[in-house]
Amino acid sequence: MQEILDLSSIDIKSVEVYEQGVPYESFRLLREHDPVHWHPETAPDPGFWAITKHADVVAISKDATRFSSAERFIYYEEIDAESMEIRRSMIETDPPEHTRLRRIVSPLFTPKTVEAYRAYAQPVADGLLDVCLAKGEFDWVKEVCEMMPIRVFVKVFGAPDADANYLAKLANQLVAIDDPDLAPPPEAYERARARGFEPHHLPFRSPAALDLFDYARDLCEARRVEPKDDLITRLVQAEWEGDRLSDSELVNFCQLLVFAGNETTRNSLASGMQAFIDNPDQLDLLNRDRSLMKGAIEEILRWATPIYCFRRTAMEDVEMRGAQIKKGDKVVMYYTSANFDEEVFEEPERFDITRDSSAQVVFGGGGPHYCLGAFMARMQIETLFTTVLDRGLRLESAGPTTRLRTNFANGLKTMPVRVINS
Ligand code: HEM
Repeated sequence: MQEILDLSSIDIKSVEVYEQGVPYESFRLLREHDPVHWHPETAPDPGFWAITKHADVVAISKDATRFSSAERFIYYEEIDAESMEIRRSMIETDPPEHTRLRRIVSPLFTPKTVEAYRAYAQPVADGLLDVCLAKGEFDWVKEVCEMMPIRVFVKVFGAPDADANYLAKLANQLVAIDDPDLAPPPEAYERARARGFEPHHLPFRSPAALDLFDYARDLCEARRVEPKDDLITRLVQAEWEGDRLSDSELVNFCQLLVFAGNETTRNSLASGMQAFIDNPDQLDLLNRDRSLMKGAIEEILRWATPIYCFRRTAMEDVEMRGAQIKKGDKVVMYYTSANFDEEVFEEPERFDITRDSSAQVVFGGGGPHYCLGAFMARMQIETLFTTVLDRGLRLESAGPTTRLRTNFANGLKTMPVRVINS
């Protein structure tokens, strides 16, 4: 007798689920049986459409007219109008406002511009690996992945090196408010309230956003007075046909960069090493044939998918695979599921640096919001893993890993490792 499949109990939202591991099997079931799935939420949250097929993630990402980022932002949570105005950055706008912002900032993130930042990334990778190799046993996440993107960033920003730890802490506090090990301390909430900000009005509902705003404002002000050769100066001066970022657009954009550029990149460096520890033949293969590096980066990205999902809001009624999406409905695109869609990636659960992973949707499914930092992320992944190979570094696990308690960033919190050969 055929069993009746009950998909109503599938939970792909709770932080507890993701703390245990990515729910790949739930995603597989949804892709196979109900790819546009109505997922209930606890009241007052209204529930949402879970989009799990690659083709649908791409279609929605490219259709900013029917699926808005601005209307109710891009996260699960419902945000009131007042909060939206304080929190809105470029990622939460639609064309034509988005087109305007993107034109002003995108010349600062071209492959050529980013290539120049490799000169910052290499010494950072060398310095971090020097310290870790001397120890023999260390935490790959805490001592390498958490430090590399933020140290590169402070150099790109033109901020003092000494600020890297402070910014890394704030970036953690931004995404991990549900994680007791990383969440902002109670004083940070009190400080925000004393300044007249309800923390839930701030990005990620985190008071750390206020500290990031302050930091960015001070840095921008300093560069306005005394321009230097750095990204902040170029942002302050950036213009498109005479149009510039306003003060609040500038500060919100810097805050977005600190989050978007760090948590994500760092998680790809962590998952990438975990994949190589679990599949040492793939690291050997890459070492023997460095021409595989470009493809390996795409496979590391697909494997890691550092952001699980982003949301859109339907601006009109839309029928999709037989489901009736109504105007105003919340629609959540699961990049993690799309990157394991067997219609696009054969045997997706196999980590294989020789496969063609170029269709991955790690940076979004295309369209106007496609990640501005994609070249920068790839450059850092390449720099770190090339340095690992050049040094003949091989690692093994030295204890269990722990995962971030969040339903948003696919990240490892700790990853003890031991050097087995260098
Ligand atoms: C592996 C690392 C990264 C991942 C997985 C990632 C992921 C994403 C995704 C999925 C989006 C699309 C948002 C949407 O469609 O709503 C996005 C947008 C964005 N990312 Fe990244 N990102 C990464 C690295 C970076 C870096 C290094 C930077 C900064 C240099 C950055 C800056 C941005 C910005 C500014 C946007 C908004 C673009 C827009 O709205 O037009 N990202 N990213």
